[in-house]
Amino acid sequence: MFPVQRPRRLRTSATLRRMVRETVLTTDDLIYPLFAVPGEGFAKEVRSMPGVYQLSIDKIVEEAKEVYDLGIPAIILFGIPADKDLDATGAWHDCGIVQKAATAVKEAVPDLIVIADTCLCEYTSHGHCGYLGAGDLVGKVLNDPTLELLKKTAVSQAKAGADIIAPSGMMDGFVKAIREGLDAAGFEDTPILSYAAKYASAYYGPFRDAAESTPQYGDRRTYQMDPGNAREALKEIELDIAEGADMLMVKPALAYMDIIWRVKEASNLPVAAYNVSGEYSMVKAAALNGWIDEQKVVLETMTSFKRSGADLILTYHAKDIARWLDA
Ligand code: PBG
Ligand code: ZN
Repeated sequence: MFPVQRPRRLRTSATLRRMVRETVLTTDDLIYPLFAVPGEGFAKEVRSMPGVYQLSIDKIVEEAKEVYDLGIPAIILFGIPADKDLDATGAWHDCGIVQKAATAVKEAVPDLIVIADTCLCEYTSHGHCGYLGAGDLVGKVLNDPTLELLKKTAVSQAKAGADIIAPSGMMDGFVKAIREGLDAAGFEDTPILSYAAKYASAYYGPFRDAAESTPQYGDRRTYQMDPGNAREALKEIELDIAEGADMLMVKPALAYMDIIWRVKEASNLPVAAYNVSGEYSMVKAAALNGWIDEQKVVLETMTSFKRSGADLILTYHAKDIARWLDA
């Protein structure tokens, strides 16, 4: 007869549990998102995201120093321009807000990795992630004309000092276009972190408050993925790898952990999970009401992202996590 199996033997003390723990979260896994706005000395908390601020560049630099001192290796920059237009000028202009922020951060904290989100939605007057058609194509987000603008945006971000380019608009062929643009401009060593599987998600709501990027009409379902689809995520990943992506992202994270797992199984590239704004706001709201233990819930969730295959996690909780792990 077999002896009774007793898995509990390995759970009898904290030290033993530590020894057999399969997945360990570290500060090295974290990427902290920041929102840059014009002005000076400006910090405005985002209504739906307690603890998250729109910051002028001087404040972004202060924040970047703090982030680096906490041991977090990277930030991702989003920009809110002074003016928005049909050509998303603020996205690709050499004096754009993200370009200026990237330069200032790299000057102050050279070892902090600066990731630039590469998309048009914060910069277009209509709030869509691409170039809009006219005439027969009115209201349509046009794929190939958008690629040209994304290429220009990525090159100017790299010129400004961005270490990694992260295209997030779900246009077909965007990795290839950006790779060609970067290479032609001499940025062969600048990696691309592709938002490879990005779903059309209601969890982005609070981000759109933060980035002031809510589409003025319609929604993003003609370019972002349908939440019902998993195989299609593998298709997207396959294309992005073939086009030269260096890292892959799945977004959102919590409701898509099966996708994180499948992407991890299907590729040999580092996988990033974006713990998006709505996921953050739900935890914050419950914590502020005293309904959950914020620290425990956040650490459990992050560990689970890693367990499901994420190598990196983009999260608004990053600074808190770094402090908790250090305590
Ligand atoms: C836009 C973009 C979005 C996020 C990052 N880049 C959302 C959107 O499609 O509106 C979402 C991030 C978050 O919710 O935290 N390309
Ligand atoms: Zn976008």
